[in-house]
Amino acid sequence: MAENSQQTADREVMSSIINRYPPERRFILAIMQDLQKQFNYLPKEALQMTAEHVNTPMTVIFSMATFYKAFSLVPKGRVVLKTCDGTACHIKGSTIIIDEVYKILGIRPGETTPDGQFSLETVNCLGACAIAPVLLANDRVYPKVTPALLREIIEENRGQ
Ligand code: FES
Repeated sequence: MAENSQQTADREVMSSIINRYPPERRFILAIMQDLQKQFNYLPKEALQMTAEHVNTPMTVIFSMATFYKAFSLVPKGRVVLKTCDGTACHIKGSTIIIDEVYKILGIRPGETTPDGQFSLETVNCLGACAIAPVLLANDRVYPKVTPALLREIIEENRGQ
């Protein structure tokens, strides 16, 4: 089957990232970090190419990719919304925020919008309980989030 030009371009980028590093196991994490940064997740093909580059079994590469929370094996949105679901945020209405995200964007925690703009995740207490409920948008902190504020946050982060 003919591959499209996007796949070819992606493979070239993967290859150039991987080939920046000598073919040694100690560079696996650094390669993965660069791939995650570039693609916002770790495409399976990139992991296979990494495995070949450093001459390491795919099972080892895969277990590293799943061990570290910073890596994702599924595509994430350009903007990752993280709602805190610790006790204080829960009491102050984080579930309302999660429901509101669903109303606005149609995604539940762990999901990404079909246009690849937003993903939603929940996280444990961020240590900022005084400003609960807390929401992060690509690691920018939004305090005391209400449904109205959430709409503003989503608009502010949409299509940048
Ligand atoms: S419970 Fe959300 S910041 Fe502590």
